[in-house]
Amino acid sequence: MTTIIDGVSRTFAEYLLIPRLTRKEQRPDLVDLSSPIAVVEPNQLPRFKINTPIVSAAMQSVSGSELAISLARQGGLAFIFCSQAIESQAEMVHQVKAHKAGFVPSDTNTTPQKTLNEVIALMKQTGHSTVPVTEDGSGTGRLIGLITDQDFWEFEDDLSDPVMKYMTPIEEVIYGEEGLTLREANRLLHKHKKKCLPILDKAGHLTSLVFKKDYEDHMRHPLELLDDSKRLCVGAAINTHDYRERVPALLAAGADVLSFDSSDGFTEFQKEGIDWIRQEFGTDVVLGGGNIVSAEGFDYLVGEGGVDFIKVGMGGGSICITREQKGVGRGQASALLDVVKRRDEYFEETGRYIPICSDGGLSNDTQIVVALAMGADFVMMGRYFAMTEESPTPRTSINGQMYKPYWGEGTNRAQNWQRYGDGTESREMVFEEGVDAYVPLVGTVGDVLRTTLYKLRSTMVNVGADSLSDFREQAVLTLVSEQSVVEAGTSTVFQFSSTRDYEGGGNS
Ligand code: IMP
Repeated sequence: MTTIIDGVSRTFAEYLLIPRLTRKEQRPDLVDLSSPIAVVEPNQLPRFKINTPIVSAAMQSVSGSELAISLARQGGLAFIFCSQAIESQAEMVHQVKAHKAGFVPSDTNTTPQKTLNEVIALMKQTGHSTVPVTEDGSGTGRLIGLITDQDFWEFEDDLSDPVMKYMTPIEEVIYGEEGLTLREANRLLHKHKKKCLPILDKAGHLTSLVFKKDYEDHMRHPLELLDDSKRLCVGAAINTHDYRERVPALLAAGADVLSFDSSDGFTEFQKEGIDWIRQEFGTDVVLGGGNIVSAEGFDYLVGEGGVDFIKVGMGGGSICITREQKGVGRGQASALLDVVKRRDEYFEETGRYIPICSDGGLSNDTQIVVALAMGADFVMMGRYFAMTEESPTPRTSINGQMYKPYWGEGTNRAQNWQRYGDGTESREMVFEEGVDAYVPLVGTVGDVLRTTLYKLRSTMVNVGADSLSDFREQAVLTLVSEQSVVEAGTSTVFQFSSTRDYEGGGNS
């Protein structure tokens, strides 16, 4: 007989936090937002933590390498989408790992014989204004000098002149020798008041460049998520069809975390995939699974040799029409509460702590706060990041406003048959589970996260929490009536204009 579960399917918008005692020494900037992303084994420290409890959705219109770099800089993690060829996904992962490790390979180089005209064209092409001059014009050739846009006047000097006439010759270039540490390189830059330090090997060949602006950037981002080699961290999505080829390629490219990307992860296909990865690569690989919406789904994917973290959510995404199309899914708050309850029981039984990711349907900062209060360790968002400068889509002007396209992985446009097909190799998507839309452009990843994280920290202080685990422990939530939602708004005063719609990734 059909089972009807007690209670209704609830969403985050129906809950509110009750303030608790705030201690005098508490301040938003002292709140710790780090969160485990890998299973925490009994009496052990987390194997992998993120510094900001926010990750970006594995979607074509969201997570490319540019967004991944910006998000890792803020302490979060992006999941590069897998609805693309293995090689191009691995290349995106590689781009993040290769980015600003401190010692950067030089991609804008010239020879002494080239003209200023050619150098200017090169600078425009790569966007870089410091150009090493090498014997053969390559990034690893013998260094002859250095030319920057400060060395000539584009509208005064004769642009047919050769580079050698304007460059700083090698005898006058301050450089470092291969083998020095990043700290030593930065000290040289500081001491000599330089912006760029070429690093040379014993034979005088260029090996890399170190920039002052990278050092400054690093100091401005204390939460940056870095691996042991000081490279930015990045996640990558995988599917249940080609993991045998995709997983080795992504790991070789340097992916730090892998996660199955599936609208319904409670399947034998996903279980087989997890078993294969564990057998081939062991438990060192940080592996996420899902999506699930029930305790039953949790038990199926979690356990010794199971996933490290689990994603919860089905049908809540802003571009998602799964519930309308198929009649499956669950209110995001109810799904999360059910899985969190089971996670906590599992912890009591085994001592193993499984981080939970609340995925999709977070339409404003308040809902992010509520999801974390309800027991999510971190949240995954698509729309929020699609609205930023760094999402991989072009900006479009509509009626004078700037927008960016945002489409679901279940649309014909995305053609992600591995996520939304019928589980076979037929590559057929008979109906769509997502829509193709536009979202307003709201700023950079740094801009939107600054507001969101400040609000989160500030709410945590309201409930007397110093960390996310405190927050989960201390949170007391209440269901709200329709009338209390009206009371919470500003319905009784007249506002001439409001900027609230664009705060923190667009409150709706
Ligand atoms: P958002 O943050 O509300 O925009 O939701 C993003 C989440 O929606 C993703 O992380 C996926 O779990 C889910 N999703 C992505 N594409 C689709 C789709 O086409 N249909 C249904 N859900 C989708």
